[in-house]
Amino acid sequence: MAKTCNVALIGQGFMGRTHSNAYLKVAKFFGDLPRVPVMHSVFGMKEENPEQFAGKWGWQNASTDWKSLVRNEDIDLVDLVTPNYMHLPPAMEALAAGKALATEKPLAGTLADAREMVAAAKKAKAKTFVWYNYRRCPAVALAHQLVKAGKIGRVYHVRCVYLQDWGGPETPLLWRFQKKLAGSGAHGDLNAHIVDMARFITGDEITEISGAIAETFIKERDLLETVASGGLGGGKGARKKGRSDVDDAVLFLARFKNGAAASFEASRLATGYKNQNGIEVHGEKGAIRFRFEDMNYLDYYDNTADKKVQGWSRIICTSAGNHPYVEAWWPDAHILGYEHGFINQAADIMRVLGGKKPEVPIPDFADAYETQRVLEAALLSAKNRCAVKMSEVK
Ligand SMILES: NC(=O)c1ccc[n+]([C@@H]2O[C@H](COP(=O)([O-])OP(=O)(O)OC[C@H]3O[C@@H](n4cnc5c(N)ncnc54)[C@H](O)[C@@H]3O)[C@@H](O)[C@H]2O)c1
Repeated sequence: MAKTCNVALIGQGFMGRTHSNAYLKVAKFFGDLPRVPVMHSVFGMKEENPEQFAGKWGWQNASTDWKSLVRNEDIDLVDLVTPNYMHLPPAMEALAAGKALATEKPLAGTLADAREMVAAAKKAKAKTFVWYNYRRCPAVALAHQLVKAGKIGRVYHVRCVYLQDWGGPETPLLWRFQKKLAGSGAHGDLNAHIVDMARFITGDEITEISGAIAETFIKERDLLETVASGGLGGGKGARKKGRSDVDDAVLFLARFKNGAAASFEASRLATGYKNQNGIEVHGEKGAIRFRFEDMNYLDYYDNTADKKVQGWSRIICTSAGNHPYVEAWWPDAHILGYEHGFINQAADIMRVLGGKKPEVPIPDFADAYETQRVLEAALLSAKNRCAVKMSEVK
């Protein structure tokens, strides 16, 4: 029988729900796991009513004290789904207590925090994981496998966008718009994902960033307290404003070690796009194209095919035995969604903790630190209006 793994989840917002759902479902769909998660305890802030959250999602215990929770000797894996500034403190406690540790992306709000986390994890020899969940969409995992197998040959171009439009002036000053809590805006939120995906799919590392532009279009937003306390009903006069000091959009160019040229674009003000996380990779022998709003599909172009019939193939990545992770799910074309990426990641975390290999590589803290360095280099490029070599960013 598989060994159990007692999990403590720290946080219960958006990601708190996706991770709870993943732990709840994973062993029901993946029958071969060497470790099976037990939903031991969840932390939430008093006003969030963690007891109610625990009851709803199947956590055995609820707590408003994250410190004692991460130190609890019954816990095997601590999972952090808190705002970015709140990754470092619980991570350090968990590592000191000898726990395995998972955290949401980006690894931390700042490069300095991320560096501290990597060093502590190395010292503790801890198993660590970062939830770059898009790696575990079957179509993205397939893109990684195709590029690795040489299907598109030498890579020339990598084009990445992550476009959303929820960040207009009507959106209040959430933690996501405050540098001291988030580190950055669309950059750490969205570019983090596409930098990770580009590194994952190409298997290559970025060596230089240039031409970065970071723009804050909406400089003031309604304070959340004043919106929540009747600002909506009480009219505009009831609202107070605060400064948004993070980017709403960041664009930059990059070079990869093996010579590919890349572009990255993240925005929360890309009117018309809700969650368009997209990547295109063009190579000598072919190309791949992925768009998350159509996440079951991977487009593939075979540049070696007979020209008479050559064109983009639209692969529906739902075929068990052919496409990653699908074995655990539904019959062909019975469509997967956002939540499956998280459940697939929970399966891979359990595999690694049980001494087995993940279906596709899973980023640990050291790997996610490379993504964080790229994000930092892009911010430096934007600030100083210059090219930044990755060797300059430690
Ligand atoms: N992988 C993804 O696709 C994805 C998507 C969204 C967010 N994220 C990441 O997940 C993390 C959490 O984001 P979210 O969208 O769930 O945020 P959220 O605001 O919905 O929830 C955050 C939760 O953290 C806890 N929390 C808040 N402030 C805290 C504090 N000061 N001390 C302790 N706990 C606190 C609370 O339980 C809160 O509900 C962030 O790092 C974010 O970048 C990842």
